Amino acid sequence: MAKTVVIDEHGGPEVFKLVDREVGAPGPGEVRIRHEACGLNFIDVYQRTGLYPMELPHALGMEAAGVIEAVGEGVTHLKAGDRAAYAAAPPGAYAEARVMGAAQVCPLPDGISFEEGAAMMLKGLTTHYLFRRTTPISKGDTVLFHAAAGGVGLIACQWARSEGITLIGTAGTDEKCALALEHGAAHCINYRSGDWVAQVRDLTDGAGVDVVMDAVGADTFEGSLDSLKPLGMMISFGNASGPVPPFSVGILGQKGSLKITRPTLFTHIADHDTCQRMAADLFGKVTSGDVTLRIDQRFPLEDVAEAHRVLEARKTTGSTVLIP
Ligand SMILES: NC(=O)c1ccc[n+]([C@@H]2O[C@H](COP(=O)([O-])OP(=O)(O)OC[C@H]3O[C@@H](n4cnc5c(N)ncnc54)[C@H](OP(=O)(O)O)[C@@H]3O)[C@@H](O)[C@H]2O)c1
Repeated sequence: MAKTVVIDEHGGPEVFKLVDREVGAPGPGEVRIRHEACGLNFIDVYQRTGLYPMELPHALGMEAAGVIEAVGEGVTHLKAGDRAAYAAAPPGAYAEARVMGAAQVCPLPDGISFEEGAAMMLKGLTTHYLFRRTTPISKGDTVLFHAAAGGVGLIACQWARSEGITLIGTAGTDEKCALALEHGAAHCINYRSGDWVAQVRDLTDGAGVDVVMDAVGADTFEGSLDSLKPLGMMISFGNASGPVPPFSVGILGQKGSLKITRPTLFTHIADHDTCQRMAADLFGKVTSGDVTLRIDQRFPLEDVAEAHRVLEARKTTGSTVLIP
């Protein structure tokens, strides 16, 4: 049996229930993993509220780290006793243990703790595909990254610094801006005070940025387009402030032949070999010291509702982990 967080209706943090679940044995292509730490991500909020609908009842959580207890037929990259970490669908990571498909479960290097593993897989693999697999970004290019002091944000700041990319961050308080700067942002704008689009223009001598990475969504969408250079790339990858409203593609022409994409991590890691290679790159960034994981919030698994409240209230910085 394993304590598991489930929801049987969409709604606020009060819908979470902690239940005992039979874990069972892994089938072909599956592993059973006992979690030491589980990651908290904004996608968990979208799934809880129903912005990303799912069949209910359902367990939640997309990221965790722990020890492999058993492997099913055909699994060759992991064995019982291995340390491992993952970001993967379907949700179900908010649990003491689970059985799941092995393809996205990655051996965790000894130098990386379980908490770090749980804090970095979904956010770090996202950073990987944003910088390496979405649009060409070269040394010297300038990227605007919203919510730069958040979970993905602080990893992105460090990733950009390690590759010579100029990252202009935004964040909701001056303290958060200071944190983003400490982690490698070249500049950080408090976008809750003043005209942040004008500040981006000033910082780029009027030119605008090459790429925007925008997971704030509704509140920043227009301003993000206005921050781009002609031919610039808008990567809209989330909706922390609400989904981007429908818009006319003609806007992209009027604002300078802009490009736009709306990626999700799960497309990028769908293939086993690609996922394992991306994880190896990410682990390399961490073991080399280019990226350090900042875990600013820890909650016992049973306090998951409080963890969600704090995340939604914009009171977190860096990563948050739940400890089963
Ligand atoms: N598409 C993908 O593949 C993918 C994968 C991973 C994450 N994401 C997205 O990336 C974003 C960051 O994820 P995360 O888990 O690391 O979260 P996070 O950045 O730690 O938290 C979200 C942050 O968004 C900012 N925000 C702005 N407006 C907000 C509002 N109205 N309500 C709540 N927060 C608001 C807040 O920072 P400030 O106070 O500084 O504004 C908040 O701390 C999320 O939108 C997530 O969905 C997308």
